[in-house]
Amino acid sequence: MQNNGIVSDQLPEEVLEIISQSVAYTQRLGKQLGKLLHGKELLLLDGNLGAGKTTFTQGLAQGMGVAQVINSPTFTLLKEYAGRSLSPSDVSDPQLGPIARKRFAGRLALYHFDLYRLDEPDELFDLGFDDYFASSGVCVVEWADKAEAFWPPERLYIRLQLIDEVQRRLLFIATGSRYCELLRQFQKNIYATTSS
Ligand SMILES: Nc1ncnc2c1ncn2[C@@H]1O[C@H](COP(=O)(O)OP(=O)(O)OP(=O)(O)O)[C@@H](O)[C@H]1O
Ligand SMILES: [Mg+2]
Repeated sequence: MQNNGIVSDQLPEEVLEIISQSVAYTQRLGKQLGKLLHGKELLLLDGNLGAGKTTFTQGLAQGMGVAQVINSPTFTLLKEYAGRSLSPSDVSDPQLGPIARKRFAGRLALYHFDLYRLDEPDELFDLGFDDYFASSGVCVVEWADKAEAFWPPERLYIRLQLIDEVQRRLLFIATGSRYCELLRQFQKNIYATTSS
């Protein structure tokens, strides 16, 4: 992993590059990351059509304990899922947003966005999506570059690139100490398990 130290806005940044050789491995990477999430994380996914954003998110959902198989929310912009039960300390978190409190009391929420059809970043406010980003759930955003100015500086950015039919390059860029720590733990866990 490359540590870029302090970037211009004073936030630490960590970068990790992984080549995936199969759908199953991309999903496994997502699953390993999903296991580490506790809520209030922002994951921004970027990459061309068919790069593997939804495939990665399927694994992520599994790792978060979501029982359904998830698919792309392209036509709805957002799909919501309930994951594993939260610990008592998470549930009593005073920051728990009204959305999570109402819909997924006691469960870790996954909010899966796909902004492919978004015309203007401001639509995110018009649709009330800013509430989700302030909630205690995990927000995963496909086509995040469609609303670049909307995102806070602290986040985990994941860029997926097609190398060929079965190979994908995944570039993880963590900004902010919490996300740097998350990425370090993720890397440790991946290398502790078998790769392929
Ligand atoms: N190593 C790999 N990792 C992920 N997907 C792969 C890989 N190799 C082949 N694929 C195929 O690439 C496609 C990825 O589709 P997926 O829907 O995940 O992409 P996406 O980035 O979400 O696209 P979209 O922009 O349309 O939402 C699938 O058909 C999958 O089978
Ligand atoms: Mg997709």
